[in-house]
Amino acid sequence: MEKYARVFRGTAFTSRSPHEVDMLEDHLFCVGADGMIERVVGPNDSEYEAILQAYQGTELYHALSAGQYLLPGLVDLHVHAPQWAQSGTALDIPLYDWLNTYTFPLESRFADLTFATQVYEDVVGTLLANGTTTALYFATVHREASLRLAEICAAKGQRGLIGKVVMDDPAQNPDYYRDVDTATALADTERFIQEVRALSETTKQGVYPVVTPRFIPSCTDQALQGLGELAAKYDTHVQSHCSESDWAHGYVRDRFGKHDAFALHDFGLLGNKSVMAHCNFLDENDAELFARTGTAVSHCPVSNAYFANSVIPIARWRDKGVDIGLGSDLSGGFSPSLFDNARQAVISSRMLEDGVDPSLPADERGVPNSRITIDEAFYLATAGGGECLSLPIGRLAERYAWDALIVDVAVPGAKLPLYQTDEPLHDMFQKIMYLVRPEHIREVWVQGEKVHSRG
Ligand code: GUN
Ligand code: FE
Repeated sequence: MEKYARVFRGTAFTSRSPHEVDMLEDHLFCVGADGMIERVVGPNDSEYEAILQAYQGTELYHALSAGQYLLPGLVDLHVHAPQWAQSGTALDIPLYDWLNTYTFPLESRFADLTFATQVYEDVVGTLLANGTTTALYFATVHREASLRLAEICAAKGQRGLIGKVVMDDPAQNPDYYRDVDTATALADTERFIQEVRALSETTKQGVYPVVTPRFIPSCTDQALQGLGELAAKYDTHVQSHCSESDWAHGYVRDRFGKHDAFALHDFGLLGNKSVMAHCNFLDENDAELFARTGTAVSHCPVSNAYFANSVIPIARWRDKGVDIGLGSDLSGGFSPSLFDNARQAVISSRMLEDGVDPSLPADERGVPNSRITIDEAFYLATAGGGECLSLPIGRLAERYAWDALIVDVAVPGAKLPLYQTDEPLHDMFQKIMYLVRPEHIREVWVQGEKVHSRG
Protein backbone atom coordinates (compact mmCIF):
# COMPACT_ATOMS: atom_id res chain seq x y z
CA MET A 1 0.00 0.00 0.00
CA GLU A 2 2.86 2.41 0.77
CA LYS A 3 3.13 3.92 -2.68
CA TYR A 4 3.14 7.59 -1.69
CA ALA A 5 6.22 9.50 -0.54
CA ARG A 6 4.14 11.45 1.99
CA VAL A 7 0.58 11.69 3.21
CA PHE A 8 -0.67 14.90 4.86
CA ARG A 9 -3.88 15.05 6.86
CA GLY A 10 -5.53 18.39 7.53
CA THR A 11 -8.04 21.05 6.58
CA ALA A 12 -7.09 23.00 3.45
CA PHE A 13 -8.18 26.06 1.52
CA THR A 14 -7.73 26.08 -2.25
CA SER A 15 -9.43 27.98 -5.08
CA ARG A 16 -12.23 26.20 -6.90
CA SER A 17 -12.66 29.08 -9.35
CA PRO A 18 -11.48 32.70 -9.62
CA HIS A 19 -14.34 33.60 -7.28
CA GLU A 20 -14.76 30.68 -4.88
CA VAL A 21 -12.61 28.94 -2.28
CA ASP A 22 -12.94 25.22 -1.59
CA MET A 23 -12.71 24.28 2.06
CA LEU A 24 -11.47 20.70 2.31
CA GLU A 25 -12.08 19.62 5.87
CA ASP A 26 -9.85 16.89 7.29
CA HIS A 27 -8.67 15.63 3.89
CA LEU A 28 -5.71 13.43 2.99
CA PHE A 29 -3.17 14.74 0.47
CA CYS A 30 -1.10 11.94 -1.02
CA VAL A 31 2.17 13.13 -2.57
CA GLY A 32 4.38 11.14 -4.94
CA ALA A 33 8.18 10.94 -4.91
CA ASP A 34 8.24 13.55 -7.70
CA GLY A 35 6.54 16.06 -5.38
CA MET A 36 3.21 16.00 -7.23
CA ILE A 37 -0.15 15.52 -5.50
CA GLU A 38 -1.42 12.14 -6.67
CA ARG A 39 -4.61 11.83 -4.65
CA VAL A 40 -6.82 14.11 -2.56
CA VAL A 41 -9.12 12.00 -0.42
CA GLY A 42 -12.05 13.23 1.69
CA PRO A 43 -13.34 11.56 4.88
CA ASN A 44 -16.32 10.12 2.99
CA ASP A 45 -14.18 8.50 0.29
CA SER A 46 -13.92 4.71 0.48
CA GLU A 47 -10.09 4.74 0.49
CA TYR A 48 -9.80 7.15 3.40
CA GLU A 49 -9.58 4.56 6.18
CA ALA A 50 -7.29 2.26 4.20
CA ILE A 51 -4.80 5.06 3.51
CA LEU A 52 -4.88 6.09 7.18
CA GLN A 53 -4.29 2.50 8.26
CA ALA A 54 -1.31 2.19 5.94
CA TYR A 55 0.42 5.48 6.76
CA GLN A 56 -0.52 6.47 10.32
CA GLY A 57 2.42 5.87 12.60
CA THR A 58 4.96 5.86 9.77
CA GLU A 59 7.39 8.67 9.14
CA LEU A 60 5.68 9.35 5.81
CA TYR A 61 2.54 10.55 7.62
CA HIS A 62 2.09 14.24 8.56
CA ALA A 63 -1.04 15.13 10.53
CA LEU A 64 -1.71 18.80 11.16
CA SER A 65 -2.39 19.81 14.78
CA ALA A 66 -5.48 21.64 16.03
CA GLY A 67 -5.34 25.26 14.82
CA GLN A 68 -3.26 24.39 11.77
CA TYR A 69 -4.45 24.82 8.18
CA LEU A 70 -3.06 24.13 4.72
CA LEU A 71 -2.86 26.77 2.00
CA PRO A 72 -1.27 26.49 -1.44
CA GLY A 73 2.15 28.11 -1.69
CA LEU A 74 1.97 31.69 -2.95
CA VAL A 75 3.12 32.72 -6.44
CA ASP A 76 4.82 36.15 -6.64
CA LEU A 77 4.78 37.29 -10.27
CA HIS A 78 7.04 40.32 -9.90
CA VAL A 79 10.07 40.70 -7.63
CA HIS A 80 13.22 42.77 -8.16
CA ALA A 81 15.53 40.60 -6.05
CA PRO A 82 18.37 43.19 -5.80
CA GLN A 83 15.97 45.88 -4.61
CA TRP A 84 15.38 43.95 -1.37
CA ALA A 85 18.41 45.91 -0.15
CA GLN A 86 16.41 49.17 -0.27
CA SER A 87 12.94 47.87 0.63
CA GLY A 88 10.97 50.27 2.77
CA THR A 89 12.99 53.30 1.72
CA ALA A 90 13.04 55.79 -1.12
CA LEU A 91 9.34 55.80 -1.96
CA ASP A 92 9.00 59.57 -2.01
CA ILE A 93 9.64 60.48 -5.66
CA PRO A 94 8.16 59.53 -9.07
CA LEU A 95 9.21 56.40 -10.96
CA TYR A 96 11.69 58.01 -13.35
CA ASP A 97 13.51 59.85 -10.56
CA TRP A 98 13.36 56.83 -8.25
CA LEU A 99 15.05 54.64 -10.87
CA ASN A 100 17.85 57.13 -11.49
CA THR A 101 18.36 58.35 -7.92
CA TYR A 102 18.13 55.13 -5.93
CA THR A 103 17.54 52.03 -7.97
CA PHE A 104 20.13 52.06 -10.74
CA PRO A 105 22.96 52.94 -8.30
CA LEU A 106 21.87 50.06 -6.04
CA GLU A 107 21.52 47.54 -8.88
CA SER A 108 24.94 48.50 -10.28
CA ARG A 109 26.48 47.12 -7.06
CA PHE A 110 25.48 43.59 -8.09
CA ALA A 111 28.58 43.42 -10.24
CA ASP A 112 30.06 42.41 -6.87
CA LEU A 113 29.21 38.71 -6.41
CA THR A 114 29.82 38.82 -2.67
CA PHE A 115 27.25 41.57 -2.20
CA ALA A 116 24.87 39.86 -4.63
CA THR A 117 25.12 36.56 -2.77
CA GLN A 118 24.39 38.24 0.57
CA VAL A 119 21.27 40.07 -0.66
CA TYR A 120 19.97 37.16 -2.73
CA GLU A 121 20.34 34.67 0.15
CA ASP A 122 18.31 37.06 2.30
CA VAL A 123 15.56 37.80 -0.18
CA VAL A 124 14.94 34.17 -1.14
CA GLY A 125 14.85 33.15 2.54
CA THR A 126 12.56 36.06 3.40
CA LEU A 127 10.13 35.29 0.60
CA LEU A 128 9.96 31.62 1.62
CA ALA A 129 9.28 32.64 5.23
CA ASN A 130 6.42 34.79 3.94
CA GLY A 131 4.93 31.84 2.07
CA THR A 132 6.16 32.55 -1.47
CA THR A 133 7.02 29.18 -3.00
CA THR A 134 7.35 30.41 -6.59
CA ALA A 135 8.82 33.78 -7.59
CA LEU A 136 9.29 35.48 -10.95
CA TYR A 137 12.44 37.54 -10.47
CA PHE A 138 14.19 40.41 -12.15
CA ALA A 139 17.87 40.20 -11.22
CA THR A 140 20.24 42.84 -12.70
CA VAL A 141 22.15 43.27 -15.98
CA HIS A 142 24.98 41.10 -14.59
CA ARG A 143 24.91 37.55 -15.95
CA GLU A 144 27.02 36.01 -13.20
CA ALA A 145 25.06 37.53 -10.33
CA SER A 146 21.79 36.59 -12.03
CA LEU A 147 22.99 32.99 -12.22
CA ARG A 148 23.89 33.19 -8.53
CA LEU A 149 20.25 34.07 -7.79
CA ALA A 150 19.15 30.96 -9.72
CA GLU A 151 21.65 28.83 -7.75
CA ILE A 152 20.34 30.21 -4.46
CA CYS A 153 16.72 29.45 -5.43
CA ALA A 154 17.80 25.94 -6.43
CA ALA A 155 19.66 25.39 -3.14
CA LYS A 156 16.95 26.81 -0.89
CA GLY A 157 14.20 24.88 -2.67
CA GLN A 158 12.24 27.80 -4.10
CA ARG A 159 10.83 27.57 -7.61
CA GLY A 160 12.57 30.58 -9.14
CA LEU A 161 11.99 32.04 -12.59
CA ILE A 162 14.86 34.42 -13.15
CA GLY A 163 15.71 37.09 -15.66
CA LYS A 164 19.04 38.68 -16.42
CA VAL A 165 17.81 42.22 -17.03
CA VAL A 166 18.46 43.83 -20.43
CA MET A 167 18.95 47.61 -20.61
CA ASP A 168 21.20 48.31 -23.56
CA ASP A 169 20.27 51.79 -24.79
CA PRO A 170 23.18 54.17 -24.03
CA ALA A 171 20.88 57.16 -24.51
CA GLN A 172 18.45 56.00 -21.82
CA ASN A 173 20.61 54.27 -19.22
CA PRO A 174 23.51 55.58 -17.13
CA ASP A 175 26.99 54.56 -18.27
CA TYR A 176 27.65 52.97 -14.88
CA TYR A 177 24.68 50.63 -15.20
CA ARG A 178 23.73 49.10 -18.55
CA ASP A 179 24.69 46.34 -20.94
CA VAL A 180 27.98 47.05 -22.72
CA ASP A 181 26.17 46.99 -26.08
CA THR A 182 23.25 45.27 -27.80
CA ALA A 183 25.22 42.27 -29.04
CA THR A 184 26.59 41.62 -25.54
CA ALA A 185 23.12 41.96 -24.01
CA LEU A 186 21.77 39.29 -26.36
CA ALA A 187 24.80 36.99 -26.05
CA ASP A 188 24.68 37.22 -22.23
CA THR A 189 20.95 36.48 -22.27
CA GLU A 190 21.43 33.41 -24.47
CA ARG A 191 24.25 32.07 -22.31
CA PHE A 192 22.18 32.74 -19.18
CA ILE A 193 19.26 30.76 -20.64
CA GLN A 194 21.57 27.81 -21.29
CA GLU A 195 23.17 27.99 -17.84
CA VAL A 196 19.84 28.10 -15.98
CA ARG A 197 18.46 25.26 -18.11
CA ALA A 198 21.52 23.18 -17.16
CA LEU A 199 21.06 24.02 -13.46
CA SER A 200 17.40 23.06 -13.66
CA GLU A 201 18.29 19.52 -14.66
CA THR A 202 19.50 18.84 -11.12
CA THR A 203 16.83 20.94 -9.34
CA LYS A 204 13.74 19.06 -8.18
CA GLN A 205 11.36 22.03 -8.11
CA GLY A 206 12.83 23.56 -11.28
CA VAL A 207 14.45 26.91 -11.99
CA TYR A 208 13.61 28.73 -15.19
CA PRO A 209 15.35 31.39 -17.31
CA VAL A 210 13.22 34.37 -18.28
CA VAL A 211 13.80 36.76 -21.18
CA THR A 212 13.73 40.17 -19.46
CA PRO A 213 13.80 43.51 -21.26
CA ARG A 214 13.53 45.85 -18.24
CA PHE A 215 10.93 47.97 -20.03
CA ILE A 216 10.74 49.50 -23.48
CA PRO A 217 12.39 52.79 -22.43
CA SER A 218 15.62 51.01 -21.44
CA CYS A 219 16.01 48.93 -24.64
CA THR A 220 16.90 49.56 -28.27
CA ASP A 221 14.66 48.19 -31.02
CA GLN A 222 17.44 45.73 -31.92
CA ALA A 223 17.55 44.36 -28.39
CA LEU A 224 13.77 44.01 -28.19
CA GLN A 225 13.74 42.20 -31.53
CA GLY A 226 16.61 39.91 -30.53
CA LEU A 227 14.99 39.09 -27.19
CA GLY A 228 11.74 38.15 -28.93
CA GLU A 229 13.75 35.80 -31.13
CA LEU A 230 15.56 34.24 -28.16
CA ALA A 231 12.25 33.69 -26.34
CA ALA A 232 10.93 31.87 -29.42
CA LYS A 233 14.13 29.88 -30.00
CA TYR A 234 14.27 28.58 -26.43
CA ASP A 235 10.53 28.71 -25.61
CA THR A 236 11.21 30.68 -22.42
CA HIS A 237 9.05 32.79 -20.18
CA VAL A 238 9.16 36.54 -20.87
CA GLN A 239 8.70 39.43 -18.43
CA SER A 240 8.82 43.20 -18.57
CA HIS A 241 7.05 46.30 -17.27
CA CYS A 242 4.07 47.45 -19.33
CA SER A 243 2.27 50.82 -19.32
CA GLU A 244 3.12 51.34 -15.66
CA SER A 245 3.01 55.11 -15.03
CA ASP A 246 1.92 58.23 -16.94
CA TRP A 247 5.56 58.81 -17.81
CA ALA A 248 6.43 55.23 -18.91
CA HIS A 249 3.19 54.88 -20.90
CA GLY A 250 3.68 58.28 -22.56
CA TYR A 251 7.31 57.53 -23.47
CA VAL A 252 6.30 54.45 -25.50
CA ARG A 253 3.45 56.29 -27.21
CA ASP A 254 5.88 59.04 -28.24
CA ARG A 255 8.49 56.56 -29.52
CA PHE A 256 6.23 54.10 -31.36
CA GLY A 257 2.88 55.84 -31.72
CA LYS A 258 1.25 52.91 -29.95
CA HIS A 259 0.79 51.44 -26.50
CA ASP A 260 3.31 49.14 -24.82
CA ALA A 261 1.12 46.09 -25.44
CA PHE A 262 1.20 46.43 -29.23
CA ALA A 263 4.86 47.49 -29.29
CA LEU A 264 5.85 44.44 -27.20
CA HIS A 265 3.71 42.25 -29.46
CA ASP A 266 5.50 43.58 -32.58
CA PHE A 267 8.79 42.39 -31.07
CA GLY A 268 7.43 38.89 -30.36
CA LEU A 269 7.34 39.42 -26.61
CA LEU A 270 3.69 38.55 -25.88
CA GLY A 271 2.47 34.98 -25.50
CA ASN A 272 1.27 32.31 -23.15
CA LYS A 273 4.49 32.41 -21.10
CA SER A 274 4.67 36.23 -20.94
CA VAL A 275 3.95 38.10 -17.70
CA MET A 276 3.79 41.89 -17.79
CA ALA A 277 4.05 43.91 -14.60
CA HIS A 278 1.61 46.67 -13.64
CA CYS A 279 -0.25 47.31 -16.95
CA ASN A 280 -2.18 50.18 -15.36
CA PHE A 281 -2.80 52.06 -18.60
CA LEU A 282 -4.08 49.21 -20.78
CA ASP A 283 -7.07 50.18 -22.91
CA GLU A 284 -9.75 47.82 -24.26
CA ASN A 285 -7.67 46.91 -27.34
CA ASP A 286 -4.57 46.22 -25.25
CA ALA A 287 -6.57 43.99 -22.91
CA GLU A 288 -8.04 42.10 -25.87
CA LEU A 289 -4.53 41.57 -27.22
CA PHE A 290 -3.45 40.21 -23.84
CA ALA A 291 -6.42 37.83 -23.73
CA ARG A 292 -5.87 36.69 -27.33
CA THR A 293 -2.12 36.03 -26.90
CA GLY A 294 -2.44 34.51 -23.40
CA THR A 295 -0.25 37.26 -21.94
CA ALA A 296 -0.67 37.69 -18.18
CA VAL A 297 -0.82 40.76 -15.97
CA SER A 298 1.19 40.84 -12.77
CA HIS A 299 -0.88 43.09 -10.52
CA CYS A 300 1.30 44.95 -8.01
CA PRO A 301 -1.14 46.87 -5.82
CA VAL A 302 1.28 48.12 -3.14
CA SER A 303 3.80 49.42 -5.66
CA ASN A 304 1.06 50.89 -7.83
CA ALA A 305 0.02 53.18 -4.97
CA TYR A 306 3.46 54.81 -5.20
CA PHE A 307 4.45 54.76 -8.85
CA ALA A 308 1.57 53.90 -11.17
CA ASN A 309 -0.49 57.11 -10.84
CA SER A 310 -3.70 55.05 -10.91
CA VAL A 311 -5.54 51.90 -9.81
CA ILE A 312 -5.74 49.23 -12.51
CA PRO A 313 -9.30 47.88 -13.06
CA ILE A 314 -8.36 44.22 -12.59
CA ALA A 315 -11.95 42.98 -12.23
CA ARG A 316 -12.67 44.44 -15.67
CA TRP A 317 -9.67 42.83 -17.36
CA ARG A 318 -10.22 39.53 -15.60
CA ASP A 319 -13.81 39.45 -16.88
CA LYS A 320 -12.42 40.09 -20.38
CA GLY A 321 -10.38 36.88 -20.11
CA VAL A 322 -6.96 38.25 -19.18
CA ASP A 323 -4.87 36.02 -16.88
CA ILE A 324 -3.96 37.95 -13.72
CA GLY A 325 -1.74 37.18 -10.74
CA LEU A 326 -0.14 39.17 -7.94
CA GLY A 327 3.32 40.71 -7.61
CA SER A 328 5.06 42.31 -4.66
CA ASP A 329 7.30 44.40 -6.97
CA LEU A 330 10.00 44.65 -4.32
CA SER A 331 11.03 47.39 -3.75
CA GLY A 332 8.54 49.62 -5.57
CA GLY A 333 6.28 47.68 -3.22
CA PHE A 334 7.90 47.61 0.21
CA SER A 335 6.41 44.34 1.45
CA PRO A 336 7.85 40.87 0.77
CA SER A 337 4.46 39.39 1.70
CA LEU A 338 1.92 38.40 -0.92
CA PHE A 339 -0.64 38.32 1.89
CA ASP A 340 -0.04 42.07 2.21
CA ASN A 341 -0.46 42.44 -1.53
CA ALA A 342 -3.69 40.41 -1.55
CA ARG A 343 -5.03 42.73 1.17
CA GLN A 344 -3.97 45.82 -0.78
CA ALA A 345 -5.53 44.40 -3.97
CA VAL A 346 -8.88 44.29 -2.18
CA ILE A 347 -8.41 47.74 -0.60
CA SER A 348 -7.35 49.42 -3.85
CA SER A 349 -10.25 47.85 -5.73
CA ARG A 350 -12.70 49.18 -3.15
CA MET A 351 -11.26 52.68 -3.47
CA LEU A 352 -11.51 52.46 -7.26
CA GLU A 353 -15.15 51.42 -7.01
CA ASP A 354 -16.17 54.07 -4.49
CA GLY A 355 -13.77 56.79 -5.69
CA VAL A 356 -11.59 58.92 -3.49
CA ASP A 357 -12.61 62.58 -3.86
CA PRO A 358 -15.24 63.37 -1.22
CA SER A 359 -16.12 66.67 -2.88
CA LEU A 360 -17.73 64.74 -5.75
CA PRO A 361 -21.26 63.30 -5.51
CA ALA A 362 -21.28 59.56 -4.78
CA ASP A 363 -22.49 58.58 -8.24
CA GLU A 364 -19.63 60.41 -9.95
CA ARG A 365 -16.87 59.42 -7.58
CA GLY A 366 -15.83 55.94 -8.59
CA VAL A 367 -15.77 53.19 -11.22
CA PRO A 368 -18.69 50.77 -10.74
CA ASN A 369 -18.09 47.00 -10.45
CA SER A 370 -14.39 47.32 -9.64
CA ARG A 371 -14.23 45.66 -6.26
CA ILE A 372 -12.77 42.22 -5.68
CA THR A 373 -13.24 40.01 -2.63
CA ILE A 374 -10.52 38.50 -0.46
CA ASP A 375 -11.44 35.09 -1.95
CA GLU A 376 -10.70 36.51 -5.40
CA ALA A 377 -7.43 38.06 -4.20
CA PHE A 378 -6.46 34.63 -2.80
CA TYR A 379 -7.01 33.19 -6.27
CA LEU A 380 -4.71 35.84 -7.76
CA ALA A 381 -1.98 34.97 -5.22
CA THR A 382 -2.22 31.20 -5.83
CA ALA A 383 -4.04 29.44 -8.69
CA GLY A 384 -4.16 32.57 -10.84
CA GLY A 385 -0.41 33.00 -10.53
CA GLY A 386 0.11 29.37 -11.55
CA GLU A 387 -2.04 29.87 -14.64
CA CYS A 388 -0.15 33.02 -15.60
CA LEU A 389 3.08 30.98 -15.59
CA SER A 390 1.47 27.93 -17.27
CA LEU A 391 2.78 25.73 -14.43
CA PRO A 392 0.85 23.15 -12.37
CA ILE A 393 1.08 25.13 -9.13
CA GLY A 394 -1.16 27.22 -6.86
CA ARG A 395 -3.80 24.61 -6.00
CA LEU A 396 -3.99 21.80 -3.47
CA ALA A 397 -5.43 19.45 -6.07
CA GLU A 398 -4.47 16.29 -7.94
CA ARG A 399 -1.73 16.70 -10.57
CA TYR A 400 -0.49 19.93 -8.95
CA ALA A 401 2.86 20.28 -7.19
CA TRP A 402 2.87 19.88 -3.42
CA ASP A 403 3.70 23.54 -2.76
CA ALA A 404 2.00 24.19 0.56
CA LEU A 405 1.98 26.33 3.69
CA ILE A 406 1.07 25.09 7.14
CA VAL A 407 -0.45 28.08 8.92
CA ASP A 408 -0.97 27.98 12.69
CA VAL A 409 -3.64 30.37 13.96
CA ALA A 410 -2.85 29.74 17.62
CA VAL A 411 0.87 30.52 17.81
CA PRO A 412 1.71 31.66 21.37
CA GLY A 413 2.03 35.44 21.36
CA ALA A 414 0.38 35.80 17.94
CA LYS A 415 -3.00 34.08 18.28
CA LEU A 416 -5.60 35.18 15.76
CA PRO A 417 -8.87 36.52 17.27
CA LEU A 418 -10.74 33.22 17.67
CA TYR A 419 -13.31 32.97 20.45
CA GLN A 420 -15.52 30.06 19.45
CA THR A 421 -14.62 26.43 18.94
CA ASP A 422 -16.85 26.07 15.87
CA GLU A 423 -15.65 29.14 13.97
CA PRO A 424 -17.16 28.81 10.48
CA LEU A 425 -14.40 27.73 8.10
CA HIS A 426 -14.92 30.64 5.74
CA ASP A 427 -14.50 33.10 8.65
CA MET A 428 -11.31 31.27 9.58
CA PHE A 429 -10.10 31.61 6.00
CA GLN A 430 -10.77 35.35 5.95
CA LYS A 431 -8.99 35.89 9.26
CA ILE A 432 -6.01 33.98 7.92
CA MET A 433 -5.93 36.05 4.72
CA TYR A 434 -6.15 39.38 6.53
CA LEU A 435 -4.09 38.71 9.65
CA VAL A 436 -1.41 36.13 8.94
CA ARG A 437 2.20 37.15 9.43
CA PRO A 438 5.38 35.12 8.94
CA GLU A 439 5.28 33.84 12.55
CA HIS A 440 2.06 31.96 11.74
CA ILE A 441 3.63 30.21 8.74
CA ARG A 442 5.08 27.16 10.51
CA GLU A 443 6.14 25.09 7.51
CA VAL A 444 6.65 25.77 3.83
CA TRP A 445 6.83 22.93 1.28
CA VAL A 446 7.88 23.08 -2.36
CA GLN A 447 7.57 20.13 -4.76
CA GLY A 448 7.14 17.72 -1.86
CA GLU A 449 10.15 18.98 0.15
CA LYS A 450 10.12 20.99 3.37
CA VAL A 451 12.03 24.21 2.63
CA HIS A 452 11.23 26.33 5.68
CA SER A 453 10.07 25.76 9.24
CA ARG A 454 9.90 27.78 12.43
CA GLY A 455 9.22 27.03 16.05
N1 GUN B 1 10.14 50.27 -14.56
C1 GUN B 1 11.39 49.99 -14.95
N2 GUN B 1 12.14 49.49 -13.96
C2 GUN B 1 11.34 49.43 -12.89
C3 GUN B 1 11.53 48.98 -11.54
O1 GUN B 1 12.60 48.56 -11.12
N3 GUN B 1 10.44 49.06 -10.73
C4 GUN B 1 9.24 49.54 -11.16
N4 GUN B 1 8.21 49.57 -10.32
N5 GUN B 1 9.05 49.97 -12.40
C5 GUN B 1 10.08 49.91 -13.26
FE1 FE C 1 8.97 46.32 -11.21
